[in-house]
Amino acid sequence: MKALVVSGATDGIGKAVALALLRRGHEVVALGRNAEKGATLLALAEEQGAADRVHFIRTDLALVEETRKAIAQIRSQWGKLDGLVLCAQHFRSARLVTDEGFENSFALYYLSRFLLSHELADLLEAAPDPVVVNVCGPGVDFGEVRWSDLQRERDYSGIDALMQGSRLNDLLGVGFAQQHADSAVKYVLLNPGGVRTSFSGEYDSVMAQQIEAMREAAKPVEEGILPIMSVLDTPPTAALSASMMGEPLELTGPAFDPDSARRLHALTGELLAG
Ligand SMILES: NC(=O)c1ccc[n+]([C@@H]2O[C@H](COP(=O)([O-])OP(=O)(O)OC[C@H]3O[C@@H](n4cnc5c(N)ncnc54)[C@H](OP(=O)(O)O)[C@@H]3O)[C@@H](O)[C@H]2O)c1
Repeated sequence: MKALVVSGATDGIGKAVALALLRRGHEVVALGRNAEKGATLLALAEEQGAADRVHFIRTDLALVEETRKAIAQIRSQWGKLDGLVLCAQHFRSARLVTDEGFENSFALYYLSRFLLSHELADLLEAAPDPVVVNVCGPGVDFGEVRWSDLQRERDYSGIDALMQGSRLNDLLGVGFAQQHADSAVKYVLLNPGGVRTSFSGEYDSVMAQQIEAMREAAKPVEEGILPIMSVLDTPPTAALSASMMGEPLELTGPAFDPDSARRLHALTGELLAG
């Protein structure tokens, strides 16, 4: 039996992955902010006969303090983790700054994944074949990182924040492989393509229509999680890999630039220290 942490496990891809892992007989630590949805996940796990193998931690991953509390709780109860699956996401058409002063998309989509990846790395290293699956957006041309304005204070748009978040997650993967160079942990950046999920977010009317059209065209979640389950069943041998809809991607070009990854790692450390 493996033990895996799934963030954003109360809906969409994270929920489907959590339930599929439980069906395979594994233990799942599910992170989500909504207690009611957490209770639904526990009830579904119970129906699958997996009540004793699922643990829900309610946490708002847009907040560094709450993310760190969840990490501390995991560390107090598990000495080893076989996997970490990063799915928490929330789109915002209007810019929001968290109580801690970070732009919400940056904090949730990037910072929480940075913290969970790096601050659980030693527990992952204690497992025989550990893997981190960061479900994000590699393989799509998202343009340049706006280094002077990572949190989109100028001309914010929800799409730009999302796209930059995907670039930051690509660099997080590169940075993780750099920082944990001798580690057995395999880091996987995985773009599942269009999947019919809840698309958690607060959308303006134009974006809401586009999301509805996307949802209709997208594949069902059970199909969308297949590449993720495949990586969790058999982690790759490379320290870092990336794929889009099951097709491997070359780790070349600005999206995976080693110097940019070092720069982002240092900048993130400064932001967190501040
Ligand atoms: N679906 C696609 O077509 C697609 C395509 C490419 C990449 N992806 C990536 O796949 C990942 C999962 O996407 P999805 O479509 O499955 O998303 P989703 O259905 O919107 O689910 C997101 C999950 O994150 C949780 N969440 C939101 N804000 C949170 C917070 N502050 N703290 C803790 N949990 C929070 C949500 O909980 P609530 O229900 O409480 O909001 C929900 O459980 C995302 O990173 C996304 O970018 C998705």
